[in-house]
Amino acid sequence: MWRLLLALAAVINAATTSHDVVRSFSDPQAAPMSLFNHLVVDRITGRVYIGAVNRIYQLSSDLEVAQSIVTGPVNDSALCTFDCPPNFVKKPADNVNKALVIDYATSRLITCGSVLQGLCSVRNLNNISHDVREVREPVVANNASASTVAFIAPGPPNPPMTQVMYVGVTFTGNSPYRSEVPTVSSRSLEDDRLFMIARTAVTTGTRVFVNSLMREQYPINYVYGFSSEGFSYFLTTQLRGVGSDTYYSKVVRVCHDDENYYSYTEIPMSCTGEGGGNFGYNLVQAAFVGKAGSMLASELGITAQHDVLFAAFSQSESINTNTPSDYSALCVYSLKAIRRKFMQNIKTCFSGNGSRGLDFISPSHACIGTKLQSISEDFCGLDVNTPLGGKQPVEAVPVAIFKRRLTAVVATVTGDYTVVFAGTAEGHLKKIVVESATSAFEYGDIVVDERSPVNKDLFFDTQLMHLYVMTERKVSKVKVQECSVYKSCLTCLGAKDPYCGWCSLENKCSLRSDCQDAAKDPLYWISYRSGRCTTITQVTPNQLQRTTARTLDLHIENWPTLNGQFFCAFTALDRTLITNATMKPYGVNCTTPRTDSLPPIPAGQHHFTAKLSVRTTQGPDFVATNFTFFDCNTYSSCTQCVSSFFPCDWCVDGHRCTHDTAENCRNDILVTGVSRMGPSYRSGPGFCPTINSTSDGTNEILVPSGVKKGNKSKSSYNRPIYSPNEVRMPV
Ligand SMILES: *[C@@H]1O[C@H](CO)[C@@H](O)[C@H](O)[C@H]1NC(C)=O
Ligand SMILES: *[C@@H]1O[C@H](CO)[C@@H](O)[C@H](O)[C@H]1NC(C)=O
Ligand SMILES: *[C@@H]1O[C@H](CO)[C@@H](O)[C@H](O)[C@H]1NC(C)=O
Ligand SMILES: *[C@@H]1O[C@H](CO)[C@@H](O)[C@H](O)[C@H]1NC(C)=O
Ligand SMILES: *[C@@H]1O[C@H](CO)[C@@H](O)[C@H](O)[C@H]1NC(C)=O
Ligand SMILES: *[C@@H]1O[C@H](CO)[C@@H](O)[C@H](O)[C@H]1NC(C)=O
Ligand SMILES: *[C@@H]1O[C@H](CO)[C@@H](O)[C@H](O)[C@H]1NC(C)=O
Ligand SMILES: *[C@@H]1O[C@H](CO)[C@@H](O)[C@H](O)[C@H]1NC(C)=O
Ligand SMILES: *[C@@H]1O[C@H](CO)[C@@H](O)[C@H](O)[C@H]1NC(C)=O
Repeated sequence: MWRLLLALAAVINAATTSHDVVRSFSDPQAAPMSLFNHLVVDRITGRVYIGAVNRIYQLSSDLEVAQSIVTGPVNDSALCTFDCPPNFVKKPADNVNKALVIDYATSRLITCGSVLQGLCSVRNLNNISHDVREVREPVVANNASASTVAFIAPGPPNPPMTQVMYVGVTFTGNSPYRSEVPTVSSRSLEDDRLFMIARTAVTTGTRVFVNSLMREQYPINYVYGFSSEGFSYFLTTQLRGVGSDTYYSKVVRVCHDDENYYSYTEIPMSCTGEGGGNFGYNLVQAAFVGKAGSMLASELGITAQHDVLFAAFSQSESINTNTPSDYSALCVYSLKAIRRKFMQNIKTCFSGNGSRGLDFISPSHACIGTKLQSISEDFCGLDVNTPLGGKQPVEAVPVAIFKRRLTAVVATVTGDYTVVFAGTAEGHLKKIVVESATSAFEYGDIVVDERSPVNKDLFFDTQLMHLYVMTERKVSKVKVQECSVYKSCLTCLGAKDPYCGWCSLENKCSLRSDCQDAAKDPLYWISYRSGRCTTITQVTPNQLQRTTARTLDLHIENWPTLNGQFFCAFTALDRTLITNATMKPYGVNCTTPRTDSLPPIPAGQHHFTAKLSVRTTQGPDFVATNFTFFDCNTYSSCTQCVSSFFPCDWCVDGHRCTHDTAENCRNDILVTGVSRMGPSYRSGPGFCPTINSTSDGTNEILVPSGVKKGNKSKSSYNRPIYSPNEVRMPV
């Protein structure tokens, strides 16, 4: 039996998982170590591209393979570049995808791999095996683990008209050629200069190097990159300074309209709160720039159009490593606050206060005070105090903390709510509502690919209704909601899923957009936060003798304002009977069906329960409750009768059970039922005229004593005996 139950539970579990995951893709032909590295979704066509070890895939939005190409292994040596002399020893090397970027302006897919010093290719978005152009320029990291972040945003020569590819790369010390690869650069997307540094002058250009003395000991790990309002940003983890052995997170920023990277600035970012250890959640692991729902936006002092950074952080596993532990936190920053913090740092230095910092780039010195009157948030740098490392951090407290390592973050808005989906190192997807700048709660956790870390590249489909969740060997298309599994208003709102609400006119849990007339009345689509369910709180009377009819008084809570005729429907034993309902302020009145149309009470039972619902002319049930029809006449013994859940009384003389003593028990001795309200002299089975079998085992007919109906009364009432003049009606 246990075995069966467990098996059933397993099936149900599997069913819930597969409900959320509508499609998945994995490549059975790929080598065991051929992991997926990057994923990108074309926001116009919805196509999905995957960069893997030695493979690039082009998939439909339903994850069907349209094209797959082999990119490795290739014979390679870190000690030479593309034109390796024949005498160099080359070994087959895996080509690990390090960057996968869509250039919408030219409809090209940019793919960069770890081999041949990290070069990039462009391909036709419609068919990635067409129009392939490989550019012999080292751009990305040339090993499997060193970080690379690449994205396209406005840049020189003529932003915002012209776009460049911003690239952040961890230095790999494995080759003399790596000194040519900047740690941060803007690269041209013009055909004749493809992937070259966008602008260079004698000593400056759109690039920054970690200085040659430091770069071996000062690795910078690039985590995420984005552009917002005239600037491009990278989130990084790095040492707290040259000579330090502890790590923290920093935001790196350059101005789009800056051919010299004079605007290059770094400031610390913190996500600190309770349980954050010595340094808080110091290592940023994944991030996403999106928008806030109206509630969060107003708390952050911004509008729904402004950018918001959602970032997942972990604590260092031990104090002097940048290996993340399982303790993580989610922090939310408005870009407005980040811009202001950059400006404050820049102002401080330009007023001559503190030192310029960043001596891992070039030796630091004291900030030079300038006569610059006003440095605005859009300040794009000058050839003094550059590059600049500010000390004042951009700060936030976690909105939520987890005993799981978050590895991916994406956010969206539904209604007024801000929803974050976060991938974990265990292959789960967490669903989180950010309710304010300091609080969020997790309302769901889906197993996507147990025990395989979720990749940072977490994307919505074009409709924002699914997420592509990539783990090491699998891409899953996951529904953002599954409202329809909730079958009642209470479970629907109880799920606290901001996508779901109770569509009261259609009696279903659904997206707002799937609920007819949702806009007409807030009670037509009830969301979890605003809402209490429309419920019948009281029916008077709440049960009825089947042989009678009454007007019922239904109190209904959260009763939407509705026009038109309403009906009460009584559904029981495969029969539905409809009666007219009259609207009143807090509910409806309706009569019970004609007694001759009600189904009979099933043999051997004393009642049936009907579903009593209120409905519109066409619509389904609006709200429902149970309503019981009972029949006292079905009880043949006093004990049963007066112990019943129903308001039944026993007429001793009449030897019958009845709901209406006034009508059926006139001048009779009465034992009132336990379910009767109010005081009574004789209530309950204790007052029934009970009779015991004779001790000799004969089966004689016995009648109540004190009543001259027979002449043979071997046993008698073991209770008080009543005479007719004592009869009292129940009150
Ligand atoms: C892409 O091009 C290749 C080679 O021309 C062709 O075999 C393949 O069918 C094309 N794929 C798609 C999805 O058009
Ligand atoms: C790598 O080089 C070996 C011999 O040097 C050759 O046999 C092999 O085909 C080459 N592999 C590739 C992928 O070019
Ligand atoms: C890649 O380079 C980084 C940075 O130099 C180094 O820490 C790491 O060990 C290298 N990984 C491999 C697989 O060579
Ligand atoms: C320099 O910065 C410190 C700390 O931020 C502050 O206390 C001090 O007033 C500043 N001095 C000037 C001249 O701005
Ligand atoms: C509804 O029924 C109750 C009790 O039967 C009665 O007092 C009330 O007047 C009725 N209201 C309407 C609007 O019919
Ligand atoms: C219900 O109401 C309709 C219209 O208001 C009326 O025609 C019909 O006779 C009523 N039915 C009953 C059973 O009262
Ligand atoms: C109505 O009755 C059904 C079955 O008898 C029960 O499962 C359900 O909880 C009841 N509903 C209410 C609102 O009491
Ligand atoms: C009747 O029977 C019950 C148990 O069967 C016993 O407890 C009770 O004493 C009996 N009453 C009389 C009056 O014999
Ligand atoms: C009692 O009833 C029996 C039959 O059940 C009858 O023969 C007898 O006469 C009756 N006695 C009296 C006193 O009525």
